[in-house]
Amino acid sequence: MTLASLKYQQINTVNIDYRTYLSAGEIAAIEHETTLLEYREAAGIEALKIVQNNRGWISDDSLFAIANLLQMPVSQLEGVATFYNLIYRQPVGKYVIHLCDSISCYLTGFETIADYLQQELGIGFGQTSSDGLFTLLTNACLGGCDKGPTMMIDGKHYQHLTVDAVQTILVELTNSANGLTEGEQ
Ligand code: FES
Repeated sequence: MTLASLKYQQINTVNIDYRTYLSAGEIAAIEHETTLLEYREAAGIEALKIVQNNRGWISDDSLFAIANLLQMPVSQLEGVATFYNLIYRQPVGKYVIHLCDSISCYLTGFETIADYLQQELGIGFGQTSSDGLFTLLTNACLGGCDKGPTMMIDGKHYQHLTVDAVQTILVELTNSANGLTEGEQ
C-alpha cells in the first residue's frame, strides 16, 4: 500500500462528532450557510472559512468535524481545502503575505520583492517568522496585473510594490500587532 493510499484510507475512516469539536457559534454559522444552498456539501468552502476565521487555520480535526457536520466525505472536503489557496492546512502567522508570482508581476519585480521579504523576515516561502507575525506564500495572479508587483495581506491588496513600500507595510503591521500607533515606535 502506498503512503498516498494509506493517507486516503485514514482520512475517510477517521470520524469526529462535530458537536464535541465545533463551537455553537461555528455550528450555527455553518448551518446558516447550508440553508442558502441546495446541498449541504456545497457549504464546504464557507464552512472552512468560518472555522479558519475562528481558529486561524484548518487542522485535520477541524476538517473531520466539518465533514461530519456537512455529512460529506473528508477526502472531498480536503480536496476543496487544498484547491482554495486561502484555506491554510497548517498553522500560519498573524499576517499571511500572498506575493503574486504570475507573469506580469514576475516581469515587474517579483524577485526583488521576494528577496527582500525573505531577507527581512528571515524565512523562505511557506514558512512563518520566528515572532509568529508573518507567513510568506506565493500566489497566482491577484487581478492587478497592470499594477505589479502585487501582494495581498488579510484581504487587502498592495500594488506597485517597491522595497521601501514593503518595508513600511511590514513596520506598520508589526506595530499594529504590538498595539503601537504611529509615532510610538
Ligand atoms: S500577474 Fe500579478 S496580479 Fe496578475
